[in-house]
Amino acid sequence: MLITLKNILDIAESKNMAVAAFNATSLEGIMAVIEAAEEENAPVILQFANAAHGKYVPLEKIGKIMVMLADEAKVPVCVHMDHGNNFFEIKTALDLGFTGIMYDGSALPFKENVANTRYAAALADEYGASIEAELGAMGAEGVEDNIMGAYTDPELAKIFVEETGIDALAASFGTVHGIYKSEPKLDFERIENIRELTGVPVVMHGGSGISDEDFRRCIDRGVRKINFYTYAAKFAGDAIRKMAEETSGNLYSHDVFVTARESMKQTYGDAIRVFKNEK
Ligand code: 13P
Repeated sequence: MLITLKNILDIAESKNMAVAAFNATSLEGIMAVIEAAEEENAPVILQFANAAHGKYVPLEKIGKIMVMLADEAKVPVCVHMDHGNNFFEIKTALDLGFTGIMYDGSALPFKENVANTRYAAALADEYGASIEAELGAMGAEGVEDNIMGAYTDPELAKIFVEETGIDALAASFGTVHGIYKSEPKLDFERIENIRELTGVPVVMHGGSGISDEDFRRCIDRGVRKINFYTYAAKFAGDAIRKMAEETSGNLYSHDVFVTARESMKQTYGDAIRVFKNEK
């Protein structure tokens, strides 16, 4: 069942949990996400980051399949554009039937980020979709540590949310995308302050590599959407390597795809169970 980002985050709020947001880059990945969510009987966000993954599969093709399979799912699914940074791709996603979009203007000066986010919010509204936007910088893959200056300022976040009317805020409080080079140190108080001052659900990016305990601490302080991808892709790669090493004779691509899908499903199921935050 396809539902909007706002509605899926309302479910998370009512249960003091976070909805997992997994990035799709293949049919196997999409199936792994939906199968894991159905087995866990949990809502899930299926998202596509065109800026990062458009080179592997075009938005126009994978987007259609994401919407179709989300619609058929037995659990609530939001199909979401991750890190949208231009209005063309955002509009393309909305035309395909995405029910959530993220506008990422975090690299822009504050005023420009506000203006563009407002425009993206109006666009999403025309389609009945919801919007996530980002303030502060999460840092990129391979970054050793986040820099304090890039952490989201709660007071500024309050103004940002008031001026843009967004449904969820991606905030920087110590996570980075990709593999962590050193143990992440999260600023839990910042999450609490952002949540309190803005009144909207907080989104964590860079979920791979965060401990189960830290996930729970973040959820208890207002994180309602957790973006998670790199570990699923890495563990699937490890499973394929193992399978290839154990295979004598021909290695067939269809078997490789099934191995990848099963591994991703396992990783996604494990993450969903933690994000349910059941005590
Ligand atoms: P990881 O790939 O680090 O888990 O983060 C995913 C993400 O934040 C997508 O926006």
